[in-house]
Amino acid sequence: MYTQSFNVQDGQAAAPAPAVALAENAAAQAKFDAKINADDKIEPQDWMPDNYRKTLVRQISQHAHSEIVGMLPEGNWISRAPSLKRKAILIAKVQDEGGHGLYLYSAAETLGTSRDQMLEGLHSGRAKYSSIFNYPTLTWADVGVIGWLVDGAAIMNQIPLCRCSYGPYARAMIRVCKEESFHQRQGYEALLVMMQGTAAQKAMVQDAVNRWWWKCLAMFGPPDSDSPNSDQAMRWGIKRISNDDLRQKFVDATVPQAKVLGISLPDPDLKWNEQRQHYDFGAIDWDEFWATVNGNGPCNKERLATRVKAHNDGQWVREAALAYASKHRAVAHKEAA
Ligand SMILES: [Fe+2]
Ligand SMILES: [Fe+2]
Repeated sequence: MYTQSFNVQDGQAAAPAPAVALAENAAAQAKFDAKINADDKIEPQDWMPDNYRKTLVRQISQHAHSEIVGMLPEGNWISRAPSLKRKAILIAKVQDEGGHGLYLYSAAETLGTSRDQMLEGLHSGRAKYSSIFNYPTLTWADVGVIGWLVDGAAIMNQIPLCRCSYGPYARAMIRVCKEESFHQRQGYEALLVMMQGTAAQKAMVQDAVNRWWWKCLAMFGPPDSDSPNSDQAMRWGIKRISNDDLRQKFVDATVPQAKVLGISLPDPDLKWNEQRQHYDFGAIDWDEFWATVNGNGPCNKERLATRVKAHNDGQWVREAALAYASKHRAVAHKEAA
């Protein structure tokens, strides 16, 4: 999934990114500017301003972390899926999220930061990931709602990233978005089936929607008036649509889907505004959002501990893969000699 609240500062620092450093090489800066202005792609071998590189490393690595931590809340339900069909779909989806993490770590590595450095940031708790994964998945309906709303919000965020100015990120996002579309549809379809079931099933779906709706609106990140990094990211062609505009698009697209499902969205202020030709909606609890981003959500500690354990448990696999590769290199070397 899942940005883009995801250009928030890592670690404790809350200060905005420093102003763009003056390029030592004016010709290189001019060439970079011309490419950005022409909407061309910047590639790994191209000169780029330090802050453009840093912004991308931060955003892409936070995005990668979000993908792999995002495997955990739904992974909890693989062994408890209600049928073989639902289990197969959920395994495929969770595996896709692992793949998204891999594409994104690879894209970030082209900027000169190693995967080990990025993972160290995640495992030490310094690096951020999407706050949405720090909430528990209490019932099977949560799996459907995550597909419909969380992956739905992710698609809204990520489609503009297919046009990001940094080539490797933009290209990774094309495949990611195709897979996210499957994630959203499988979630919605699972909910449609439950909404044709018993009263208890319908109540379970409504309860899950009530718990996830506001958290999904916060996934688009702080209001534009409170997003100090957004303007620069827009000028660089990293970010194409503002947080508030994406949030509005998501609400406008989701309300009709909720009507088809037959559930209500937990917002008394949600209503069509004829003048704006958009839905109005109520205020988001940003204190809760920031508390969760900063490590105090209900599952932050559990998610991080699970991730660190999985990484440590996989150490022998990495060592075996390296030993295998080195053995084959030695054989190839001997044959070539
Ligand atoms: Fe994903
Ligand atoms: Fe997804």
